[in-house]
Amino acid sequence: MSRPLPILPVLKLRCCWSLLLLALMLFGAGPVMAASSLSLIYSGNLDGELEPCGCSEAGDLGGLKRRATLLDQLRAENPQLVVISSGGLLRVEGAGDRLKSEYILSGFKRLGYDAIGLQWRDLALGAEHVLEAGLPWVASNWHGDSLPVSRLIERSGGVRIAFFSWLDPQQSPLQQMQGSHALVDDDIAGLHRALRQAKVDGVITVLATGLPLKLAVSELGLEDVDILIQRSAYEEYGEPSLQGKTLVLQPGSRGMRLGRVDLTLADGRIQSWRHEVLPMPDTIADAEKMRDWYEDYNATVKAAYLKRVELRKQREQGQSPFVGEETCLTCHQTEHKAWAASNHAMAYDSLEAVGKSFDPACIQCHVVGFDKPGGFIDMSMTGHLMGVQCESCHGAGRAHVEAQGKVALPNSDWNKEKMCAECHTQPHSPGFVFDQYWPKIQH
Ligand code: HEC
Ligand code: HEC
Ligand code: HEC
Ligand code: HEC
Repeated sequence: MSRPLPILPVLKLRCCWSLLLLALMLFGAGPVMAASSLSLIYSGNLDGELEPCGCSEAGDLGGLKRRATLLDQLRAENPQLVVISSGGLLRVEGAGDRLKSEYILSGFKRLGYDAIGLQWRDLALGAEHVLEAGLPWVASNWHGDSLPVSRLIERSGGVRIAFFSWLDPQQSPLQQMQGSHALVDDDIAGLHRALRQAKVDGVITVLATGLPLKLAVSELGLEDVDILIQRSAYEEYGEPSLQGKTLVLQPGSRGMRLGRVDLTLADGRIQSWRHEVLPMPDTIADAEKMRDWYEDYNATVKAAYLKRVELRKQREQGQSPFVGEETCLTCHQTEHKAWAASNHAMAYDSLEAVGKSFDPACIQCHVVGFDKPGGFIDMSMTGHLMGVQCESCHGAGRAHVEAQGKVALPNSDWNKEKMCAECHTQPHSPGFVFDQYWPKIQH
C-alpha cells in the first residue's frame, strides 16, 4: 500500500527552535493564497475492537477489515484525503487482549494512517512495544525524541497540516506507580510555540487530546489550534462545534464509524466545513488485503485457546460444581421445556455459525462458567456446558442437586436484572430492556 506520508519535521519542543526557523527561511513557506479544499477522515478510541461481534444489528458496525475497504474507496475518490486518529487503539484488561492488541497494531499499519495520537491506553503493553509498531504516532509532550512533537502532512495545492497530540500527565496511569510521569512533560508553553510556528508557516493545525473540551480549553488553550479533536464519545460521534475560531471534533469509540470533514481553506485558515459520519455496516466488504492478517489472527487465537485448555485439563482433577442442564431436567421439567425453546439453548451454535467458538472473548457469554473452576473448557471435554444454561444464571448447581433442592442456588438472592446484566451489556445487547426480554424466556 503506497502512502503519501512525506516530510516528518521532528519539532522537538526545547532544542530545535533555530533549526525550525532556518527551515522556514530555506523553504520560504509563505501563506497559501488561493482557496483550496481538503477532506479529513478522523477517528479515535478503537478501544481494542478489532472486529464487531455481530451480536446484534446495532452492534454490527466497524472492524478493521471493513475500515480498510472504506478507506481505500475514499482514497480512490479523493487522493487529497488525509486520514488521522486521536489514538486509543488498545484496551488491555484480560489475558486475550494482549494478543488482540498485537494484531490491532499490525492491522492498523495496513490502513495507512497519516498520523495517530498516542493515548495512555496505547502504552498498556509497554512504551517500547508501541514505539516498535511502526505506526505514525505523535505525542507532542513526549520526553526524549523517540516520538515526534508533530507530523506534517502535505497534499497538492499547497495544503499542509501539522498534527499534534497532547498526553495529559494528570491522567497517566504510571504516575502513581512511579511517583512521577517520566514519559511526558507538561511543557504547555513549548506546545504553544510549536503551534504558533506552524501558523506562521501557513499550516493548518490539528491538536488531538484525551481531554474533554472544557479541560482542553482551560489547560491547553486553543489560540493557534484550527482543529481540536477532543476526548472520544462512547460509540457515536459528537456534532462538530466552534470554540472561538477552533473547529472542535469529537470521534465516537469502538471503531464503528469514521468521521469526515470537508474543509475549504484560504490563507492557511479554515473558511468553511461540512461534516459527515460514515458507519461501517456489513454491506462494506472485508478488504482483501486484510485477509491473511485476519486468518493469522484467528489461527493464533485458536492456538492460544487450545493451549489454555490443555493447561486447565491438567490442573482440574477435582469435581466440577457445575452439573449441566440435563441434571436440572430431572426435577424441573416445566422450566427446562421453556428454556430449551429459547435462544439461550442455542447460544453456542450461534458462535459456531460465525466461526468464533474458539475465541475466549466470545465464549464467556455463550456457555456455562467459562474461565471458572469446573466450567466450560471445550466441546469434547465439557459439551454438557455449552450454551447459556440454567447455571449461567442461577449459578453452579451441584450442591443444590445433591441436597435434593434443599440448598439454595448461589445466585438465588440476585435480582433478575443483575443476572441478565452479566451478559446483556450495552455493547452486546444494545436493545436490552428487561421488561421486553424477560417474558421471552420466562419459565
Ligand atoms: C433432585 C431434584 C432437583 C434437581 C436435580 C434440581 N433441583 Fe432445583 N429445586 C428442587 C426443589 C425440591 C426445589 C424447591 C426448593 C424449595 O422451594 O425449598 C428447587 C428449587 C429451585 C429453584 C428456586 C429456589 C432457588 O434456590 O433459587 C431454582 C432456581 C432451582 N431449583 C434451579 C435448579 C437448577 C438450575 C438445577 C440444575 C442445576 C436444579 N434446580 C436441579 C429440586 C431439584
Ligand atoms: C458480554 C457478553 C457477550 C460477549 C462477550 C459476546 N456476546 Fe454474543 N451475544 C450476547 C448477548 C447478550 C446476545 C443476545 C443479544 C440480543 O439479542 O439482545 C448475543 C448474541 C450473539 C449472536 C446471535 C445474533 C443473532 O441475532 O443471531 C451471535 C452470533 C453472537 N452473539 C456472537 C458473538 C461473538 C462472535 C462474540 C465475540 C466476538 C460474542 N458474541 C461475544 C452476549 C455476548
Ligand atoms: C437467562 C437466565 C436464566 C436461565 C438460563 C434459567 N433461569 Fe431459571 N430463573 C431465572 C430467573 C431470573 C428466575 C426468576 C427469579 C425471580 O422470580 O425472582 C428464574 C426462576 C427459576 C425457578 C424458580 C421458579 C419459581 O417459581 O420460583 C426455577 C425452578 C428455575 N428458574 C429453574 C431453571 C432451570 C431448571 C433452568 C434451566 C433449564 C433455568 N432456570 C434457566 C433465570 C434463568
Ligand atoms: C451467560 C450469559 C447470559 C445471561 C446471564 C443472560 N443472557 Fe440472554 N442471551 C445471551 C446470549 C449469548 C444470547 C444469544 C443467544 C443466541 O441467539 O445465540 C441471549 C439471548 C437472549 C434472548 C433472545 C433474544 C431474541 O430476541 O431472540 C432473550 C429474550 C434473553 N437473552 C433474555 C435474557 C434475560 C431476561 C436474562 C436475565 C434474566 C438473560 N437473558 C441472561 C446470554 C445471556
